[in-house]
Amino acid sequence: MAFKITKAVIPAAGLGTRFLPATKAMPKEMLPVVDKPAIQYVVEEAVAAGLHDVLMIAGRNKTPLENHFDRVGELEAILEEKGDFEKLAKVNFATDLADVHYVRQGAPLGLGHAVLRAKMHVGNEPFAVLLGDDIIDERDVLLTRMLEEQTSRNATIVALLEVDPSLVHLYGVATVEPTESDDVVRITGLVEKPSREDAPSNYAIIGRYVLQPEVFEVLENTAPGKGGEIQLTDALETLAKDPSIAGGVYGVVFRGRRYDTGDRLDYIKAVVQIAVDRPDLGPDLRAWLKTYAASLD
Ligand code: UTP
Repeated sequence: MAFKITKAVIPAAGLGTRFLPATKAMPKEMLPVVDKPAIQYVVEEAVAAGLHDVLMIAGRNKTPLENHFDRVGELEAILEEKGDFEKLAKVNFATDLADVHYVRQGAPLGLGHAVLRAKMHVGNEPFAVLLGDDIIDERDVLLTRMLEEQTSRNATIVALLEVDPSLVHLYGVATVEPTESDDVVRITGLVEKPSREDAPSNYAIIGRYVLQPEVFEVLENTAPGKGGEIQLTDALETLAKDPSIAGGVYGVVFRGRRYDTGDRLDYIKAVVQIAVDRPDLGPDLRAWLKTYAASLD
């Protein structure tokens, strides 16, 4: 199926306070997951779904992001001189991956505020938002499935994950109704980071969205919510409550592998899981992990 959506927006302007001091001088999205920064996996995912126009919402540490997706003449020349074409290909791959644009979010006033910074670039068309610290395993399909649903329903689509009820306070959580599709639910309400008692379900929003352009106007009229931040979840709640604005909100239920690299423990797990599956590192790492795990008892 061909999609009319071509633009991906990647917010990467959060303070990353859970990762201090590593994030003092660089965004958490640049932390390496094995040998690539987290954000490269995310850009690769967007491109794999046909979204070649990428807008990054950058914060105060914008330079490392820009440098990563740009040419580095000196490094390229040295690798070329040495005849190390394998490494040169890795360097050039990131440079040529997508058509990457940047806009600054002057102050980290929330994810909703970050998405609003994309208004000029996106214009009046639907677009995808991929959080730069959230990695979806490349072997599992999510974004393409969401684009399919956006195309057929002309509505807002979010990705949902069924989480353990003890973890709902970390996410935006949805009130849902079944649809005719096994992996799609209609969302009738949303609440940001509820307590376990107040959570309407255990369907949590993860970092993938396909949004309608109407979201910008809703965000402009969304007051700061939880944590004093302009929350994307609050704008989605408005859209879910009134389907006449932009067709309502639906959730694609993701049952694959997802890694939250913004959380220290999940980050460590992500590095191990991804490395274990890599042909170049996996066999040695697996063997070592088994011995190491046994030594812990
Ligand atoms: P998080 O809440 O995970 O990011 O935002 P954070 O605030 O940087 O994290 P901690 O708690 O301080 O460690 C989810 C996504 O939204 C982006 C972040 O970069 C991340 O990709 N974000 C968040 C922005 O771009 N701007 C903001 O104002 C807030």
